[in-house]
Amino acid sequence: MIIPFHRAFLDDNEINSVAEVLKSGWITMGEKTFEFEKNFASYTGASHAVAVNSCTSALHLALKAIDLQPGDEVIIPAITFIATWEVITYFGAVPVVADVEKETHLLDVDSFLKNITPKTKAVIPVHYSGQPCDMDPIMGIARSKNIWVIEDAAHSLPAYYNGRAVGTIGDITCFSFYATKTITTGEGGMLTTDNPQIADRVKRLRLHGISRDAWNRYSSGGSWKYDVEEAGYKYNPTDISSAIGIEQLKKSNEMNKMREEIASKYNSCFAKNDLVEIYPVREGRISSWHLYPLKIKIENLTISRDMFIEEMKAQGISTSVHFIPLYRFSCFKGSGYLPKDFPNSEFIFSREVSIPIYPGLNNKEVDYVAETSLNILEKYKK
Ligand SMILES: Cc1ncc(COP(=O)(O)O)c(C=O)c1O
Repeated sequence: MIIPFHRAFLDDNEINSVAEVLKSGWITMGEKTFEFEKNFASYTGASHAVAVNSCTSALHLALKAIDLQPGDEVIIPAITFIATWEVITYFGAVPVVADVEKETHLLDVDSFLKNITPKTKAVIPVHYSGQPCDMDPIMGIARSKNIWVIEDAAHSLPAYYNGRAVGTIGDITCFSFYATKTITTGEGGMLTTDNPQIADRVKRLRLHGISRDAWNRYSSGGSWKYDVEEAGYKYNPTDISSAIGIEQLKKSNEMNKMREEIASKYNSCFAKNDLVEIYPVREGRISSWHLYPLKIKIENLTISRDMFIEEMKAQGISTSVHFIPLYRFSCFKGSGYLPKDFPNSEFIFSREVSIPIYPGLNNKEVDYVAETSLNILEKYKK
């Protein structure tokens, strides 16, 4: 059996809606994008949703919207995708890397607190795998120290923290619609906020900083005149991708249910095994289950995590690792960060393997992944 790490869950609804856009003659940002934004805001409960062409763009615009300056510090977790880090460097600002919780892989609140200095301007909690970070203490600390909270929600649509939807908690939240994400537009992203000034500014910045978007300029009743108040970026989505997003959002709950079912099946297969540690979702939190992170207990095994991945591959199963801790990359040379300063991230990195979880993965495939994992672990038991 061959099981890819991910397959997008698309059907005729997406195909037909893209065809409709193509036939309409208007293919860049326009009505479909505004409809997608409206639907997304109502789905998450956020006051404003602004569509962009990736989560990386959303994170970049979020930092621009808070007027991040050279030398300002932004606290981020060590276990995340490089995008969370790189957008800070665009400003000549300083990414400050904090450790994560050993069990949940989420930003460790004590480490966040310890890394705060008078220069800290923002924190970017990453809702790893779809589980929200511990937002009450994070928001409490941030509010008391005048720190902006920009949530990296690339993994977490839909997700909930104590009854509140991710997208309505921090100052700004950034979502991803990359090909493997819980809803996809191929490439795409969304920024949500309750702050109307931030929403307005991000809407301008996503399209060169011009005072009205191309839709207004070229539609009947529009005008060719526009002003540019500040330099912006070319980060707008197209109506082609937004048409896919509208259809994906409609089935977001259904897809979420399928991922939940797979997660609970895996949980029951792995729960009682002393060769693996399953990923816990804390009380009061609902995960989107974008990832299913398994930690193999290398102390009880004669193989490493890397060898486990090779064995899975040999059995036709593609897996991945989320993530290589930031400080291990070459671009961190000379930064002064050392693996020994991040004991929890190192612990996770030596053990973590993400196994397939996506709507459309059928029962037989889920069983095959679970059985194969357990067989490999048993074979290499100490
Ligand atoms: C935690 C995290 N943040 C940000 C991103 C960037 O998302 P995008 O590819 O939409 O720019 C990703 C993508 O994988 C991610 O995993």
